[in-house]
Amino acid sequence: MKFSINHQQIQVFAKANWLFVVLILVTFTSCRKEDDASKNSTSTYVPTPILASDVFPREFGIPALPSDNPLTVEGVYLGRMLFFDPVLSYDSSISCGSCHKQEFAFSDPVPVSSGAFGLKTHRNTPSLFNMAYSKKFFWDLRVNNLRDLVFEPIQAHNEMAMTLPRLEGKLKNIARYKEYFNKAFGHAPNVVDMSKALEQFMLTMVSYQSRFNRFFPGDSIQLLSSSELRGAFLFNGLVNFNNGVTNGADCFHCHGGELAQQQNLNMGGFANNGLDVVHTDKGLAAIDNKSTSLGVFKTPSLLNIEKSAPYMHDGRFKTLDEVIDHYSDNVNFNSPNLHPLMDHGGIHLNLSAQQKADLKAYLLSMTDNKFLTNPAYSNPFKK
Ligand code: HEC
Ligand code: HEC
Repeated sequence: MKFSINHQQIQVFAKANWLFVVLILVTFTSCRKEDDASKNSTSTYVPTPILASDVFPREFGIPALPSDNPLTVEGVYLGRMLFFDPVLSYDSSISCGSCHKQEFAFSDPVPVSSGAFGLKTHRNTPSLFNMAYSKKFFWDLRVNNLRDLVFEPIQAHNEMAMTLPRLEGKLKNIARYKEYFNKAFGHAPNVVDMSKALEQFMLTMVSYQSRFNRFFPGDSIQLLSSSELRGAFLFNGLVNFNNGVTNGADCFHCHGGELAQQQNLNMGGFANNGLDVVHTDKGLAAIDNKSTSLGVFKTPSLLNIEKSAPYMHDGRFKTLDEVIDHYSDNVNFNSPNLHPLMDHGGIHLNLSAQQKADLKAYLLSMTDNKFLTNPAYSNPFKK
C-alpha cells in the first residue's frame, strides 16, 4: 500500500506536468517573438492574401500575375493611397490620379494633361483598367510591366518631376506610410516596394460590368436595343461591299473580344490606323527604330470609351462621331505602314448616317458605371 497512488494524486501530478510544458512553450514563443521584432520594427507583417478569383471575372479568365508580388489587402490599399497621393511629385502638387481620373475611366478629358510646374504631357492620357491582361504599356508599347512603368511618370519632368531619393525620404517620414509599408511588405518605406504596391493596385482595376460585357459573346442579345444590335453586326462584321454599301466595318480584329482590345500584339494589338500621312509622333518607331513601326501605336480598349474623350494618342478627336467619321471617310490611304485592315482596297467605308449612329450606340453600351464609381478604386483621402 505504501506505493499506491490515489486518483487525486495522479491528477495533481498530471497538472504539474502540463503546467511545465505550457511554461516551456511560453518561454520559447516569446523568444521567437523577440527574434522577429528585432528583424522588423514592429511585428505586424501578416498581409492578408487576395484570391485572384475574387478579383478577376470568370469571363475574362485569371491573368498571369507576377509571382513575386502576390496581391494582398494591405499591398493593394497602400498602392491605392500612393496612386492618389501628390507627395509622389516634386512639389506635392500632382498625383497619378490628377491625370488618371476615375470618372473618366482613369483618363483625362483634355488632349494633353498638365503635370508638375504646369508643363504639358506629350501624349493623351490613356484610360486605365484590365491592365492585368496587357503585356505592353504606353502608346508606343515601350514598357513590359506596371512595376517598371511607375518610375516613368514619377521622374518625368513634365509629369511628377520627382527624384527617387527625395521620394523615399518623404515616404519614410509619413506615419501612414511607415505603418502601411510595414503591414504590406514588412519594411520601412522604399521605392521598390512602392512600385510593387502601385502594381498591385493597378492589377486589381478591373472593368467587366458594362452591358456590352453582359451581352458578349452574343448569348444575351435581348440586352441590346435594335440600334445597338445593328452596331454590333457592323463592329463584328468583315468589310464587304455590295453596290458601294458595306454591312461590316471590321472593328473587331483590333478591338475585339470581351476586353474590346486585341491582346495578341501581332494580330492588331498595335497598328497604324491611318490618322496621318506625315507622322510627327513616330510611335513605336521611336523605340525600336524600325521604319515599319513609324506611326504605329498601341490599340486601346474600347470599354468605357464614352468616358475617355478626347481620342487617339494625341487626343485629336473630341467626340466618338469624329472617330467614326475618321474610320468611315477619312482614313489616309497614303499613310506609311497603314495597317492592311484599314485600306479595304483603297475604298472608304462610307457608312450611312444610320450606320454611324448604330456603331456609336454599340460603343456606348461599353460603359461600365460600376467601375467608374467603384469605391475600391476611389481616392482614399476624400471621404
Ligand atoms: C501629368 C499627367 C500624368 C501623371 C501625373 C501620370 N500619368 Fe500615367 N500616363 C499619362 C500619359 C500622358 C500617358 C501616356 C504616355 C505615353 O504613352 O507615352 C500615361 C500612361 C500611363 C499608363 C499606360 C497605360 C496603358 O494602357 O498603356 C499607366 C499604367 C499609367 N500611366 C499609370 C500612371 C501611374 C501609376 C502614375 C503615378 C505614379 C501616373 N500614371 C501618373 C499621364 C500621366
Ligand atoms: C488595324 C487595327 C484597327 C482597326 C481595324 C480599328 N482600330 Fe480603332 N484604333 C486602332 C489603333 C492602333 C488606335 C490608336 C491609334 C492612335 O492613337 O494613333 C485606335 C483608336 C481607336 C479609338 C480611340 C481610342 C482612345 O482611347 O483614344 C476608337 C474609339 C476606335 N479606335 C474605334 C474603332 C472603330 C469603331 C473601328 C471600326 C470602324 C476601329 N476602331 C477599327 C486600331 C484599329
